Amino acid sequence: MTLLWDADRGAADRYNYAVGGDINRHDSSVALMRDLEDSPRENLVIIGPDIDMQSACDLSEAVRVHRAEVGVLLLRRRLDVSLLGQALRAGVREVLTADDLTGLADAVRRSRELSQKMAGQHDQAVQDGKVITVFSAKGGVGKTTFSTNLSAYLASTGARVLVVDLDLAFGDVGISLQMLPQNSIIDLVQMAGHLDEQGLQQIVTHHESGLDAACAPAEPSDADRIPGTIIAELLKVAKRSYDFIVVDTPPAFTEHVLAAFDNSDLLVLIATLDIPAVKNLRLTLDTLDLLGSPKEDRVVVLNRSDAKVGLRSEDVVAVIKQDIAVMVPNSQAVPASVNRGVPIVLDEPKHPVSIAMRELADQFLRPVAGDATRAEGRERRGSDESTRRRILSWGGRR
Ligand SMILES: Nc1ncnc2c1ncn2[C@@H]1O[C@H](COP(=O)(O)OP(=O)(O)OP(=O)(O)O)[C@@H](O)[C@H]1O
Ligand SMILES: [Mg+2]
Repeated sequence: MTLLWDADRGAADRYNYAVGGDINRHDSSVALMRDLEDSPRENLVIIGPDIDMQSACDLSEAVRVHRAEVGVLLLRRRLDVSLLGQALRAGVREVLTADDLTGLADAVRRSRELSQKMAGQHDQAVQDGKVITVFSAKGGVGKTTFSTNLSAYLASTGARVLVVDLDLAFGDVGISLQMLPQNSIIDLVQMAGHLDEQGLQQIVTHHESGLDAACAPAEPSDADRIPGTIIAELLKVAKRSYDFIVVDTPPAFTEHVLAAFDNSDLLVLIATLDIPAVKNLRLTLDTLDLLGSPKEDRVVVLNRSDAKVGLRSEDVVAVIKQDIAVMVPNSQAVPASVNRGVPIVLDEPKHPVSIAMRELADQFLRPVAGDATRAEGRERRGSDESTRRRILSWGGRR
């Protein structure tokens, strides 16, 4: 439905055919703006020929400020150059004589096409990046291996990727990728409360694979100076400039990890074939339930899945009561690639470990980027403060 500002009751019928659909006529600009606010899909406003020029320009400016994608067409009894200049400065798309119904039909078509293009660009621009947190409550199971390899693979597909090292005291994302960070997450503390994309760029380190990294501080004691709120701020700002933010974590429920959980679109939880790791994963799933984290936002992966240790993947599934998304085999090629400082997905793309990592990214991580409904889910998430304090009090590394 097109919105028309015209005092003449018969005006809607007159322009109906040219506009190609129903017209909602209003007597005042206030009523029209109210209707526009209530009609988020509407993208065309026509101002009738007898509305005085200044009021018409005021309405056009208001539409441009509030709904830039909405086109404004202005009808006049006569056209002259100064009138055209005034109208264009106010953001009117086209000015036509009131009796030129063919011209009006063409202008309506052009304006709608432009509005649709602008709306499409707007949708893309506001499509936030997705946060993927890699976690296990047990140390040494492969969190950093997954974080760096998944990030490197996603970057190789052309995505803008930031890997965030939340293992703030003992982080080894930087060293695994053989980077020499000049700055780290500790440098965000002074920007707390007013962090923006430029500030974030000052602390990231660029890797030759195309990914960026927000590295952990060089000094382990600096971890205590980083509040959980700055991590939430970091992730929110990063979503504006990256397609994927992959978060590596320490093996503990720290306030930084909880901030990452709160802001994550997907959790990659790592299991291995040993009883402590499976027990810890079961406890992690229960803790995530307490935190209100949606079950459908979790994938469980089994690392070193072919290790001959007496426990089978079926045993793991029986304990955790959740399917395993991907199994990554055990291979000496993994530590060898870490020692070379090149993620195995890039160094040996045909290796079974690389194939499994890509499968995880293609089947579970990349689809999250196209799923706009997940943003709503994140907003709903939340746990009460006492639950969070209880979880934090369990503290330390396992
Ligand atoms: N599939 C695999 N096959 C063989 N070795 C592996 C595999 N995955 C990881 N590793 C090796 O296991 C060790 C621990 O891996 P990683 O550092 O990724 O674990 P982590 O969970 O990040 O540990 P931490 O809790 O200490 O941060 C590393 O030496 C790594 O190279
Ligand atoms: Mg690690």
